[in-house]
Amino acid sequence: MKFNNPLVTGGCGFIGSSLVRQLLPLSKSVTVIDNLSTGCLTNLSDISSSKLNIVQQDIRNEPVMRKLIRNSDVVFNLACLGVRHSIHSPIENNDVNANATLQILKISKEEKVQRFVQVSTSEVYGTALKVPMKENAPTLPHTIYGSSKLAAECHARSFFRTYDFPAVVIRPFNSYGPRCHHEGDSGEVIPKFMLRILNKQPMIIFGNGQQTRDFSYVDDTARAILNAGFVPGIIGKTINVGAGKEVTINELAKIIADVVGCPNALSEYAQPRPGDVLRLFADSSLANDLLDFKPETDLFAGLKKLLDWYKAKNFSPGELLKDEKILNWITN
Ligand SMILES: NC(=O)c1ccc[n+]([C@@H]2O[C@H](COP(=O)([O-])OP(=O)(O)OC[C@H]3O[C@@H](n4cnc5c(N)ncnc54)[C@H](O)[C@@H]3O)[C@@H](O)[C@H]2O)c1
Repeated sequence: MKFNNPLVTGGCGFIGSSLVRQLLPLSKSVTVIDNLSTGCLTNLSDISSSKLNIVQQDIRNEPVMRKLIRNSDVVFNLACLGVRHSIHSPIENNDVNANATLQILKISKEEKVQRFVQVSTSEVYGTALKVPMKENAPTLPHTIYGSSKLAAECHARSFFRTYDFPAVVIRPFNSYGPRCHHEGDSGEVIPKFMLRILNKQPMIIFGNGQQTRDFSYVDDTARAILNAGFVPGIIGKTINVGAGKEVTINELAKIIADVVGCPNALSEYAQPRPGDVLRLFADSSLANDLLDFKPETDLFAGLKKLLDWYKAKNFSPGELLKDEKILNWITN
């Protein structure tokens, strides 16, 4: 066993639920803490393992966190409130993403965890000035989400430098795949495009569609995070995790249309989103060297897997989209 009882904050979320699936066979038990603000129990409900312990609590609850961390060897900190949430609720967003991380770091140090994996984000960079982006690229976040996640990773690195605390920071670029969010604040471009095509609606592109992202399949992202929990020689490091392929949103729309089998699917353009990052493209060579990380699923194959997942679940795209609001973030 690689792990004794790892703690996954935000384990009922999109990436957390993939990480939990990968951790279970490698751990004596796995504990999740999640307040279900954006995650859901159904993300883990197909897992029957008695090794999985889900605690429905807020990560800001100090006594609960202390008890859980006391019983954990490794902490994977994924709980967060997202980028669109940060536009309308910046104080709460910072409280969960940055302040709670600082408190969890302090408890983890006091309880002597063996390793702390802080899951950050490519949003800490803001728009790329130079591509592909290495870890030493300037961090100029556009949103409070980006700045709160940057504060959190700075706290983790400071704990390493000041106290020799065994923290590692992982910066995933955009992820997609089964259990991704199509809904509300958390809704992401890939599931929204896919569901709208399936529902015979045009894809909505905010801005001119020339913005770029580097999309990773969720199980690849989760595998890199998992490796950061045990690989030697990475304490104190900050490591990008991306697929290493830059795709414009216009190109993405065409690829998804092809995957769904509707190559003539229509797109409509809407006002650009405030704070939208214009260019993201990862250099993941450090992850390759240090985490033995190589993406296994390319974009076309991953999108096909997502489509198959929607079909297997027998979801009605119309039902999933029924509460969708085509709104710019600021008015969400
Ligand atoms: N999805 C992406 O493309 C992406 C890209 C880069 C980085 N990340 C990072 O990966 C991590 C996971 O992201 P995700 O996409 O799975 O998001 P998600 O919203 O699906 O998961 C976050 C989880 O945290 C939980 N949570 C939020 N506030 C909480 C609180 N106060 N107490 C307890 N639980 C709380 C939510 O209920 C949810 O289950 C985050 O740290 C995020 O910044 C995600």
